[in-house]
Amino acid sequence: MIKQAEPSDLLSKNEPIFRQYLPKITPINKNSPIINEWDIPYTIKELSYYVHSHYRYYGKFPSAVAGQILEQYLPPSKDHYVLDNFCGSGTTLVEAKLRGIKSFGVDISWLSVLASNVKVTVLDLNALKKELNNLVLWFEKNNGSFSEPNDVFSKKWFDSSTARDLLVIQTYLLNLTDSHIRNFLIIAFIGIVRRVSKAHDGEVRPHINKKKKQRDVISAFSKKVNDMCNDHDKFQHNITDITSECILADNLHLPKQFNDGKCYLAISHPPYLNSFNYAAVFNLEFYWGNVFEDEYTQGNSKLYKTEMKAHPANESITEKYFNHLKICYEEIFKIQEEGGVLAVVIGDCTRNGQLVPVVDKSIEIIVSIGYKLKEINYRTTHYGLGKYAYNHRADYHGDQEEKKDGIIIFTK
Ligand SMILES: C[S@@+](CC[C@H](N)C(=O)[O-])C[C@H]1O[C@@H](n2cnc3c(N)ncnc32)[C@H](O)[C@@H]1O
Repeated sequence: MIKQAEPSDLLSKNEPIFRQYLPKITPINKNSPIINEWDIPYTIKELSYYVHSHYRYYGKFPSAVAGQILEQYLPPSKDHYVLDNFCGSGTTLVEAKLRGIKSFGVDISWLSVLASNVKVTVLDLNALKKELNNLVLWFEKNNGSFSEPNDVFSKKWFDSSTARDLLVIQTYLLNLTDSHIRNFLIIAFIGIVRRVSKAHDGEVRPHINKKKKQRDVISAFSKKVNDMCNDHDKFQHNITDITSECILADNLHLPKQFNDGKCYLAISHPPYLNSFNYAAVFNLEFYWGNVFEDEYTQGNSKLYKTEMKAHPANESITEKYFNHLKICYEEIFKIQEEGGVLAVVIGDCTRNGQLVPVVDKSIEIIVSIGYKLKEINYRTTHYGLGKYAYNHRADYHGDQEEKKDGIIIFTK
């Protein structure tokens, strides 16, 4: 039976930034299961401190969600860890690292794994800036000798000079020797793709924005790298040397390394039903990232194609979605010891105008595996996302009949 650590075991006495934006919690029911309302009245900018803004990831949860779960369920020792089995862009890893908690993530997309690992890797920022200088010099010397890609996809989404400049940067990065610096620069490169494309920046799925002004690629890239360096520098001054790593895998079959009995807390944020599928949303990024894919996937390059499908929520996809939840939480159940905690961040959706009670259904599934329901936290939000996501997102404003967005806590 695992005994939980006292907060003072692991946390510092000063109020660091990651504790300034925690949810405001209002109790609704103090008996079992505990029910609370979590209000997160902060802007995306406020919640994107340090490395959280390195990589724009659609559908990530606010840093405060992972932060609050970690504050409440600290692992009992430095050997115990938190595992996020839908790691996305690594929000959980960053929040855990800031608190000195060992963490792992699993994601099926190599881009997501790379972005997560870049956020939590300590590196020599002076060497990184030197590499950026070399890249810019090489770019200026060589971009005249490149011609833009000629395919239909590129022509649809990128101006010819933009596509040519992206190709020059991509070629430089391809020829760099493998290192943390290269990973960082590749994430910066992929991170500017949407911005310099003809697509809307804010929308989840790429759509052409006819009014979009084209941005100079090399200055957008240099600015992105410099911004990331500044954020990384602050982050590096606020962390200890503790493991955090995201692993490329399908959460339906957890890698054997997790059979060590040390996963105290699992944080899990599946794609929301009826919102979007990830691979389709990142098709511009994958277009420019494809050349790196084999290296980062080591023979498993098409793994992301078997991602959990969340859209459209027709009967078949809905059934497969709940089946996926059952299997992936059975996997977590197998690796946790008695006393372990599972925190699932999930939301209801509507299908043809009808509510699909994803929160309640998930509770039913997870309890059937053997977990005990401990706590339900309904989340309210105040910030808008892209219009598309906004129409489909769950949001709780005190009415049980509405779509609910829940942070559900279970114990083994
Ligand atoms: C809602 S996002 C998680 C976002 C994350 N909480 C964050 O803050 O960045 C869901 C993630 O699940 C991943 N995913 C989908 N199917 C998966 C599977 N079978 N195994 C592992 N990850 C999967 C997607 O690639 C996506 O990154």
